[in-house]
Amino acid sequence: MTSTDHLPEQAMPEYAERLIRGRRAVRAFRPDPVPADTLRAIFDLAGAAPSSSNTQPWQVEVVSGAARDRLSRNLLAAAEQNRLSLDFPYHDSMYTGVHSARRSAAGAIMYGAMGIARDDRAARAAVNLESLRFYGAPHVALLFMPPNAEARMANDVGMYAQTLLLAMTAHGVASCPQGLLGFYADTIRETLGITDAKLMFGISFGYADPASPRSNIVVPRAALSETTRFHD
Ligand SMILES: Cc1cc2nc3c(=O)[nH]c(=O)nc-3n(C[C@H](O)[C@H](O)[C@H](O)COP(=O)(O)O)c2cc1C
Repeated sequence: MTSTDHLPEQAMPEYAERLIRGRRAVRAFRPDPVPADTLRAIFDLAGAAPSSSNTQPWQVEVVSGAARDRLSRNLLAAAEQNRLSLDFPYHDSMYTGVHSARRSAAGAIMYGAMGIARDDRAARAAVNLESLRFYGAPHVALLFMPPNAEARMANDVGMYAQTLLLAMTAHGVASCPQGLLGFYADTIRETLGITDAKLMFGISFGYADPASPRSNIVVPRAALSETTRFHD
């Protein structure tokens, strides 16, 4: 039994459609914070995510208020001095073929919606800096893994992350997962006083600024047949 057992079974697929397709990466937020009890409800629900042998190897740091402002300042200073530190390596070249094509298409839609031309490197760099201000969001959650973490544990943290994003969506809270935050692992650890965990990525969140085109960027998905085969 759960506290939602009274909800009609037949409505579940429609709820799921609305919840899953209703989530978007939002890149413009209002400054007002999410109330503390809503925060607790969201992160409590996210903890229901599955993990290998129920190990739940995520460590989640939720940063708000003065701590959020300090973290953003330190990230901007690190970016200014090009002090990058990644716990998990990144290379553009890991995306090839159709993945590279999808990546370019998503970039074109995103920057197009922001009114930024393809070759406008300065404007693109400014968006990256804006992302170190968490796109104006009042909160950011940093997802850490144990210091010995390997690729398999990333499965679990990915499961947690999507569960968290959906829990936020259900509570009317917008979010943007940000791999870029994982480029500043040392800065984030130093600022938050963390010594023994590896950083995967961060999620900025809060209430969307509905007036901004950055709140309503829609990127398409591959057709089902491109990604999924049914065998029988
Ligand atoms: C692991 C991960 C890392 C991401 N990193 C960034 C990022 O650094 N900056 C950003 O603006 N969006 C980032 N995104 C958002 C993606 O661009 C976005 O999810 C994707 O284009 C699909 O769009 P949608 O989330 O609106 O459906 C990231 C998403 C994921 C899942």
